[in-house]
Amino acid sequence: MGRDAHHPLLFEIAWEVVNKVGGIHTVIKSKAPVTVHEYGSRYCMIGPLVMKHATAEVEPMVPTLPHLKETLDTMAKYGVKYMYGRWLIEGAPNVILFDTQSRLEKLDEWKGDLWNVAHIPSPPNDFETNDAILFGYLISWFLSEFTNREKSKAVIAHFHEWQSSVAIPLIRKRHIDCTTIFTTHATLLGRYLCAGSTDFYNNIAHFAVDEEAGKRGIYHRYCIERAAAHCSEVFTTVSHITAYEAEHLLKRKPDGVLPNGLNVVKFSAMHEFQNIHARSKERIHNFVKGHFYGHYDFDLDNTLYFFTAGRYEYRNKGVDMFIESLARLNHRLKSCNSPVTVVAFIVMPAATHSYSVEALQGQAVTKQLQDTVKEITDRIGQRIFEKAARYTGGEIKAAVIESSELLTNEDKVLLKRRVMALKRDGLPPITTHNMADDSNDPILKQIRASHLFNNPSDRVKVIFHPEFLSSNNPLFGLDYEEFVRGCHLGVFPSYYEPWGYTPAECTVMGVPSITTNLSGFGCFMEDVIEANPTDYGIYIVDRRMKSIEESVQQLADYMLQFCQKTRRQRIIQRNRTERLSDLLDWQLMGMEYVRARKLALHRSYPDAFSGDVDFEQYKVKYPKPLSAPASPRIRGNGGYIADVDEVGEELSGLGLGDRDEDERSYPIINLRRRPSDPAS
Ligand code: UDP
Ligand code: G6P
Ligand code: GLC
Repeated sequence: MGRDAHHPLLFEIAWEVVNKVGGIHTVIKSKAPVTVHEYGSRYCMIGPLVMKHATAEVEPMVPTLPHLKETLDTMAKYGVKYMYGRWLIEGAPNVILFDTQSRLEKLDEWKGDLWNVAHIPSPPNDFETNDAILFGYLISWFLSEFTNREKSKAVIAHFHEWQSSVAIPLIRKRHIDCTTIFTTHATLLGRYLCAGSTDFYNNIAHFAVDEEAGKRGIYHRYCIERAAAHCSEVFTTVSHITAYEAEHLLKRKPDGVLPNGLNVVKFSAMHEFQNIHARSKERIHNFVKGHFYGHYDFDLDNTLYFFTAGRYEYRNKGVDMFIESLARLNHRLKSCNSPVTVVAFIVMPAATHSYSVEALQGQAVTKQLQDTVKEITDRIGQRIFEKAARYTGGEIKAAVIESSELLTNEDKVLLKRRVMALKRDGLPPITTHNMADDSNDPILKQIRASHLFNNPSDRVKVIFHPEFLSSNNPLFGLDYEEFVRGCHLGVFPSYYEPWGYTPAECTVMGVPSITTNLSGFGCFMEDVIEANPTDYGIYIVDRRMKSIEESVQQLADYMLQFCQKTRRQRIIQRNRTERLSDLLDWQLMGMEYVRARKLALHRSYPDAFSGDVDFEQYKVKYPKPLSAPASPRIRGNGGYIADVDEVGEELSGLGLGDRDEDERSYPIINLRRRPSDPAS
């Protein structure tokens, strides 16, 4: 009897399971509730065992899924260390975390085997690749043991990104009885090429891929990625732009696009997110008062907080463009005598030697001042009360304290001392940390070159925080989400961004953001919002058809336009932005994953499905977005119906060769048609 392909088991494998690095962690974590809802105990994630995360985030358990315990026990007998348990996040998915170092002595043998079976080389000192190989061999070992025992149900193994994907060619070669999906969240070569000075999008069809990978020392990694793309049953990416890139650089046309969603939390009070904005902003104000002590001469009620955040990829994340546009914005705000001050934060981890004394001191002196003012006002209150309470009749005036008596001489001296402590010689610092390589840091270099020194006359102030935010951060005391909520505008002018969670996260928190039409998220929003996305707080800079100069100008214009809004306009815009959240909810986005899995099962177990593969049968009904009545008209049926043809057409406008209509189709997504399509 064949395997039951209608109630399959699902393993989802990623290097970022219980191991936060970047956006893939957000995919895995935020998608957990919908996948657990669909698969229940038939779902299990697999990741690496990173003790500091695992002990804090995983509750160890004994596996209950039939055959899982025997499988893991068998591997343990051969020295494999693992942790099995419940990941303590929403949805509480089961996870297996393998300790890749527990079979380190097998590394050379497995590297040799990888060369023999797939001709994938592996140089000795690339530790990331070594880990990927150890992880891949453990996963294929696990799947082989498991599928030899569990024969009743079909097994889907869904891999994310190259680090988890070494197992895919092994599964193919060893004929392990499971179906595989590979989702790439970027291409290695694309990321490297863009980070340099290559004109990537105009040359995408013409790169000598092996040579380019070799020149950058990533040929072996590229081979792993390309093997996974070709050996997987179903190959997908996260956006059309990355699908197009994968087709050229990995030489396999993806079967579909699985855009990234978020776990959208709705508050029972509709405007609660606005109140949270005000509360979080107050805490950013506190930081700013400390950071700019001695130069705090601007009006916080007229101050806007802009920020960019993410992994430190200077060019790919568009930090170069952000800083240049901030310099222009500064000039323009000064020239029109604007009362607005912009404080722009750059939150990107870099090598540092901890917080700088100056940054900490700023918070300390303002905190001391605040404490002293509180003590003094308490004492004043006490004195007023004492005097008033002693009233025994007669003229009331006698019971009222004179204003000259409010402050005692001691209080005045104390206050003076605190105020003196606010005197500083230099300007408020640009960075909050001691940088490991201050003089060569690209962000600092550009800030200096742009003369953004936090001078009193500057209308744009800059703060570079070279570390991710967390609530035990001594300067802000805010975690990333609280910080984002307190800001006014997220700015993400990426040049290379397969999806880009940061602007998507802004959207669901009701914070307007700027993105580009070279980011998966930007293209997605452009596709699904029929109205002008700008009205809904989604500003999209054109980095595809415009020159760099024009794009910088457009970004500066957008920021200036934002500065010219009244508070009321900002509040209205935030409401509109927040209403787009439903579009990004995994409840909707998760449907594409459902389709990818069905396609994989169909391809691996065709006998379990009657007739030919008919993707139409996987057409899913999309729930009406909750915000439908007051939202912009969303194109299509609320789902992602954009066609990769459009990306192809626009890119081909940049000089790329034309391709067949047929060649440009990505079956999973092409099933859904726009309402204007007569066939829908
Ligand atoms: N992020 C974070 N703390 C920060 C800044 C960013 O946790 O201080 C997270 C952010 O919430 C997002 C992820 O880092 O989920 C970055 O993902 P994105 O897709 O934007 O970029 P990637 O790093 O994957 O290229
Ligand atoms: C929210 C709060 C309002 C506050 C406003 C400030 O909407 O509910 O009470 O006035 O934020 O907005 P702003 O854009 O100036 O930070
Ligand atoms: C990658 C991409 C990023 C994307 C994330 C999740 O790390 O750089 O753009 O949002 O994966 O798919």
